[in-house]
Amino acid sequence: MNLKLKIWRQKDAEDKGKMVAYNVTDISEHMSFLEMLDVLNEQLVNSGEEPVAFDHDCREGICGMCSLYINGEAHGPDRGVTTCQLHMRMFNDGDTIFIEPFRAKAFPVIKDLVVDRSAFDRIQQSGGYISVNTSGNTQDANAIPIPKADADEAMDAATCIGCGACVATCKNSSAMLFVGAKVSQYALLPQGKVEAKDRVMNMVNQMDKEGFGNCTNTGACEVECPKGISLTNIARMNREYFSASVTED
Ligand code: SF4
Ligand code: FES
Repeated sequence: MNLKLKIWRQKDAEDKGKMVAYNVTDISEHMSFLEMLDVLNEQLVNSGEEPVAFDHDCREGICGMCSLYINGEAHGPDRGVTTCQLHMRMFNDGDTIFIEPFRAKAFPVIKDLVVDRSAFDRIQQSGGYISVNTSGNTQDANAIPIPKADADEAMDAATCIGCGACVATCKNSSAMLFVGAKVSQYALLPQGKVEAKDRVMNMVNQMDKEGFGNCTNTGACEVECPKGISLTNIARMNREYFSASVTED
């Protein structure tokens, strides 16, 4: 396939940035989207130009590092996959592909297609964990019976990889699908009940402090989420938050 790429180039956080056109040739339909960008970067390096900066790590759909807004969709036109798992067979010879960074006030652009998603780390640090007493009397986790339905729902919530596609897709740049998944993962399990109140209060407060918008139930986040995180997690987070706000210590 021969393709025309229109890519967001921005030297650094202060630069205004602009779309720049490139051509790539002989792209195999079996390549991943990132491999196609590797071809472009090799071409740029060989001609003495600055390669396009983009985030990636595992390239297996598990780390959440890859991002990219491709033809107006977070992670591109396929469903249930990250950018690293998006294959070039989703495109046609002669296509023009628009590639932009995830855009949100809380995700400032660092360079080209790379954005700073450390706001998610700070939300996680504010409550996305459980404290376990490891003094020697720790109860074996398998000794605590958990209803299968709860375990399954907690596991589904835990599949969130923190990629930020939900934020990039949302017209309000809301992070509620991400935070909802992280709160639900623990709220459904006995191990998470101990710190449940502090967790939801701290994580929601940190989310607001980072400048993410509010959820208006559009549901675009659920459609674009590569891990199929359900909107029910947002409802559960709201219930947890409400109950934590009205419960006395
Ligand atoms: S909820 Fe989905 S889209 Fe949002 S960060 Fe988690 S995996 Fe990514
Ligand atoms: S590079 Fe790890 S999920 Fe895409």
